[in-house]
Amino acid sequence: MGNIDVKNLIVEFDIFNADNEVVSKKRVIDDISFSVNEGDFVCIIGKNGSGKSTLAKCLNGLIIPTGGDVLIYGMNTKNEEQLIDIRKNIGMAFQNPDNQIVASIVEEDVAFGMENLGFSPEEMDKRIDESLKILGIQELRFAQTSKISGGQKQKVSLAGILCMKSKILVLDEPTSMIDKNGRLDLLNKVYELNKKEKITVILISHYIEEISFADRVIVMNQGKIILDDTPKNVVLKDELLNNAGIELPYITRMAKELKSFGKKLNGNEFSVEELCQFLK
Ligand SMILES: Nc1ncnc2c1ncn2[C@@H]1O[C@H](COP(=O)(O)OP(=O)(O)OP(=O)(O)O)[C@@H](O)[C@H]1O
Ligand SMILES: [Mg+2]
Repeated sequence: MGNIDVKNLIVEFDIFNADNEVVSKKRVIDDISFSVNEGDFVCIIGKNGSGKSTLAKCLNGLIIPTGGDVLIYGMNTKNEEQLIDIRKNIGMAFQNPDNQIVASIVEEDVAFGMENLGFSPEEMDKRIDESLKILGIQELRFAQTSKISGGQKQKVSLAGILCMKSKILVLDEPTSMIDKNGRLDLLNKVYELNKKEKITVILISHYIEEISFADRVIVMNQGKIILDDTPKNVVLKDELLNNAGIELPYITRMAKELKSFGKKLNGNEFSVEELCQFLK
């Protein structure tokens, strides 16, 4: 058993007509199974509408499966009495940070999740400070949440999640509003948390470059898992990725191109350094 076990998960949504009657069902997650172990860094990719956010919401029990089961440390999300414990173990960053900002001042927002857990004011203060520091936004501590940018909101909501010190982080496109440098910076910090503190990370992304941070990549298409492998093996599956509407990372495309000209490359390189090594 892993710390996340997804077994034959099916999610169907009701489709309504104008009179609010259910006219059909739409299957969004179509019988998927996987386990994630403590300390894993898993990246989930897939084109728009492939079911990534729905899957994320199943992991913390916001969506209850139509079929199959989701177990977090063996606790089933269908079991209502265990939902609080499940959510203590999973810190979740939603795709749209506006839905997640609840307070008018940054430090209040960051503290929100801790408020009902009985921490002392000193402990809360320490955790707020630490989390803002990790994300490099200490200067925003007393800022108004209505006056910060989308990317800053994403960092603030992430700081609130880090304060909870959950064992598992589920991050649904946490960098979608941050520029490229900021994005890589933030992911490096998440990577550090994963490696140093053994926090399990599930990163949902539509930036294919981000898979290089992960130990393992799950590729989704139309509610199914079509690949579950290391980043290096995943990018070798050109045709499957292409059919799923996923473009390869730029450097990898270049590596494949050079390989086709007879250069000694594997065609799964991610970084300029790797390319240069082979070209030398
Ligand atoms: N509450 C809902 N009711 C009906 N359909 C829904 C609901 N939520 C999501 N869907 C549909 O389910 C499918 C999967 O949506 P989901 O948000 O999980 O995809 P995604 O992979 O996260 O996409 P994106 O990359 O755009 O974030 C989409 O077709 C979406 O329209
Ligand atoms: Mg989504």
